[in-house]
Amino acid sequence: MKSEILKMLREDDGYVSGQQLCEKFGVSRTAIWKAINQLKEEGYQVEAVRNRGYHIVSSPDVVTEEELISVLDTVWAGQQVFFFEKTDSTNIQAKQLGEKGMPHGTLVTANQQDKGRGRRGRFWESPAGSSIYMSILLRPEIPPDKAPMLTLVVALSTAEGLKECTGLDVQIKWPNDIVLNGKKLVGILTEMSTEIDYINHVVIGVGINVNIQTFPEELNEKATSIYIETGQKIKRSKIIAVIMKYFEKNYALFMQAQNLENLKDKYNSLLVNREKEVRILGAKEQFTAIALGINRHGELLVRREDGQEEAVFAGEVSVRGVYGYV
Ligand code: BTN
Repeated sequence: MKSEILKMLREDDGYVSGQQLCEKFGVSRTAIWKAINQLKEEGYQVEAVRNRGYHIVSSPDVVTEEELISVLDTVWAGQQVFFFEKTDSTNIQAKQLGEKGMPHGTLVTANQQDKGRGRRGRFWESPAGSSIYMSILLRPEIPPDKAPMLTLVVALSTAEGLKECTGLDVQIKWPNDIVLNGKKLVGILTEMSTEIDYINHVVIGVGINVNIQTFPEELNEKATSIYIETGQKIKRSKIIAVIMKYFEKNYALFMQAQNLENLKDKYNSLLVNREKEVRILGAKEQFTAIALGINRHGELLVRREDGQEEAVFAGEVSVRGVYGYV
């Protein structure tokens, strides 16, 4: 009921009367009063004016279940939210929920992670309260070899969502980092549970540096946050809601084609290395090439120095800028 109350208060710029709320939820005025008091304790500033009703003045920067449900405008993405004040890793939690049968679109968020996981076994710095740590559980009916493309769908949706919320010129570093002014702003980690020809579930974890003010020294040169770049603090729930909205649309376009045909132009328009020189680092060889953009399978098309074009696969190579990370 608390998230429904929040939603009603948000939808109405004026006041919502106690009577309206009682009728909507079929409960007593005391029950409404108690719920409003709980919201106040959680940091929401709600004004109560005699003969007019309740009015929301401000919300705290939280990513709790009730906050997210009250701001999300989606059909299935994030319609079930599990929030942890502190957890090991939202990817671990989402995988466990996947094994317990939670539905497609279940979203797991945390205020802090103490075993935040990055790609290639790295640690993902996840201090309390300043960033977004979220994982979405998906049950796509596609062959397992197509699932890695979903990471690119999430990268695109995250970049689009961040652009809309902040107006910043965020870009994608293939396949799935999001960068701002040459530094990493977002990391994405996909983990899967599959049979030979069947996906049980896919978990896609997204870490976004939102309001973090400083990084450990070793990350200073490579990582940035929205706050560091703009000096502005942004509500994390708003960002999550907008990303989920884009994701739902992009997911439908992906599922229609079962590849990235409908999304590749949008993705390529955000590609940081497009038409630039990159170093391709593979197990067998390393070479310099011009990055041209992704194809419908999410592979990166590159032109070698001798003019020959080829597609490189994210599982096999990594890409660096010629002068550094981007
Ligand atoms: C990377 O190395 O670039 C990927 C980082 C992914 C971090 C996110 S934070 C939310 C989710 N939970 C995790 O443990 N990892 C991902």
